[in-house]
Amino acid sequence: MKVDGALQVPGDKSISHRALMLAALGKGESRIRGLLCSADVKSSANVLRALGAAIPEITPGGFLVQGRGLRGLRESSGDLDCGNSGTTARLMSGVLAAIPFDSQVTGDASLSRRPMKRVARPLEAMGAHFEFVSGDGLPMTVHGGLLRGVTWFSETASAQVKSAILLAGLVADVPVEVHEPMATRDHTERMLRSRGVDVRTGEGVVTLVPAARLDAAETDVPGDPSSAAFFVALAAMAGGGTLAIEHVCVNPTRTGAFKAMAAFGATLEFDDARDDGGEPVARIVAGPGRLCGITIEPAVVPSLIDELPVIACVAARAEGETRVTGAAELRVKESDRIAVVVRNLKAIGADAEELPDGFVVRGSDRPYRGLVTTHGDHRIAMAFGVLAALDGNAIDVDDRECVNVSYPGFWSDLARVTR
Ligand code: S3P
Repeated sequence: MKVDGALQVPGDKSISHRALMLAALGKGESRIRGLLCSADVKSSANVLRALGAAIPEITPGGFLVQGRGLRGLRESSGDLDCGNSGTTARLMSGVLAAIPFDSQVTGDASLSRRPMKRVARPLEAMGAHFEFVSGDGLPMTVHGGLLRGVTWFSETASAQVKSAILLAGLVADVPVEVHEPMATRDHTERMLRSRGVDVRTGEGVVTLVPAARLDAAETDVPGDPSSAAFFVALAAMAGGGTLAIEHVCVNPTRTGAFKAMAAFGATLEFDDARDDGGEPVARIVAGPGRLCGITIEPAVVPSLIDELPVIACVAARAEGETRVTGAAELRVKESDRIAVVVRNLKAIGADAEELPDGFVVRGSDRPYRGLVTTHGDHRIAMAFGVLAALDGNAIDVDDRECVNVSYPGFWSDLARVTR
């Protein structure tokens, strides 16, 4: 299998959620282009609509949102269904905590198993109240109200927790300060700043100065580096050719997977680098190389957390051992991605083992054959889909539809760039 051609991956998922939320909360008319129109982003659009926001039908081509202002949302008459989307549930918790009504937040079976107290705790310290039916997951009721400022030391390196606190501070018009154990993606900070909010960042700390307003903005959502990573991995393992991926977000908090692919031995070039609306973007040209196992240290995990399934699949084709540690967060993603990745690698004949906080994979160039069980996890389907496209492998993926969560056109893009 050779790769060939150029590709534009869909808009960044993290930026897409934030673009909708900030447009709904802004003052005046915001234009959004390049939005990721996937199931997860539709969950955010639907939750915002249920709260009275004027979100029209979303299209990647572009649309306008008439903002309701920071205090313009109203109580929903029904549940706020976040579907499979942790970003919707966690970021919207920050908004809901700061508005004076009750909201019932629900999600699908996978999201209902994922931890929510990590956002409830800081928001309760600000004065909101959360009720859980059982344990740590959805459904939950958010009793919003008048909030006070907070200085929060987050135990988990989580952009979703950080963003929930920043959004609560923004809507409640109170100062917040969030300390993170490791730097996480900073799209919320960048997007708030470009909408006139005073957000300051220091070594491991982010502070929001009360703003009282949020400007409308134009957002051109760049391509999602987490989606681009599947195609860089494909090019890395291909028998030849090069693949160009246009207009990809290369925010330094998101580029760990590209560095990992280069460390494996892939050929990787970045050109046409520029700033686009506060986010660095570039064209990535990727091709194969002689792949050798790598070590991924805990310090870089937040910069490639969503890409670890595809990194594990590249590791299965790289000579020698790849070891990932400090990634226990993988156990609470859309599936337990440590268990699911390792089980599936073994199911197709690869040599892999679980660690409590990561995995070890010993690569080989023998053919891999078998059935992959995705557990409805989009990134598992796409990671093994890449491995399945390689010559000699005979891999079936049990649920190809689940890619709709983040990349609805994945299978057709994959077919288009492989020869
Ligand atoms: C996201 C942050 C990350 C990431 C998720 C999207 C975001 O989660 O895994 O896919 O948009 O803020 P955590 O913040 O929980 O690590």
